[in-house]
Amino acid sequence: YNPGVVVVAAGRGERAGAPAEGPKQYRLIGGMPVIAHTLREFAAWGRATAGIVVVIHPDDEALFADALSHLTNQVGIRFVHGGATRQQSVLNGLAALAANAPSHVLIHDAVRPFFDAALLERVSDALKAGHAAVLPAVAVADTLKKADSNGNVGVTVSRAGLYAAQTPQAFSFPVIYDAHRKAAAEGRTDFTDDAGIAEWAGLAVRLVDGLADNVKLTYKRDIAMADEKLSRTPI
Ligand code: C5P
Repeated sequence: YNPGVVVVAAGRGERAGAPAEGPKQYRLIGGMPVIAHTLREFAAWGRATAGIVVVIHPDDEALFADALSHLTNQVGIRFVHGGATRQQSVLNGLAALAANAPSHVLIHDAVRPFFDAALLERVSDALKAGHAAVLPAVAVADTLKKADSNGNVGVTVSRAGLYAAQTPQAFSFPVIYDAHRKAAAEGRTDFTDDAGIAEWAGLAVRLVDGLADNVKLTYKRDIAMADEKLSRTPI
C-alpha cells in the first residue's frame, strides 16, 4: 500500500467572488490560506508515501508559495499546472504522480479544508479491503424538489438512498488513471467528480461515511463562515 494524494486547486473560484478577491483556495480563514489548512491535514496524516501533488493555476505560483510558507512540514509536496476543467486538472495531477509509482490515490478538492485523519483512515481501510473506488458521502438531509420549466415545483424527489458526494475520493491508481485517460480520449470533459468517471468505466464505487463538516467552500459566504468557525473560541 503506497498511496499518493492529488489536491486540485487550479479553479478560478468565480462563484466565490473571484477574481477581485482572488481564488477561494487562497483566501485566509483563521489567518491561513484555505489550501494551507488542507495540505497541513494531509501532511499531519503522514501516510501519503507516494507523495502529494498539488494542481495549481499557472497564475497562482506566488500565492501557492505563500500558502506553503504556512506549513512546517512540506515533505513530499510538489505542484503541477492544471487545465481548463477540474477533470483535466485531476488528469494532470495523476500524470505527475505516476512517476512515483503509487498503488492508490486519494483525490481531494483544495477547497475542502475540514476533513480529518479518521476520514482518511476510513477511505484507506476500504482501499486496503480491496475496493478499487471509494467515495465518502453523507445522506441527504433536505427534502429535494425538482423544478418544472415555470419555476414551480415539478415533483418531490425521494431522498431515500440519496447521498451527497465528498472528497477525498480514493482509487486503485492504475484503474483510475486508465479511466481518466480513456474519458479524455473519448472527448468526455463533463465529469464533476472522479467517482463519476469510475462509474462510467464500469467500476463499483464503495460508499463510506463522509463527514458533515467536510463542506466544499464554494460561495463568498462559505469563506466568511469558515473563518468565523476557526476563530470561535471553545467554551
Ligand atoms: O469548481 P469546483 O467547485 O467543482 O472545484 C472543485 C475543485 O476543483 C477546487 O479545488 C478547484 O480549485 C478545482 N479545479 C481545478 N481546475 C479547474 C477547476 C476546478 O483544479 N479547472
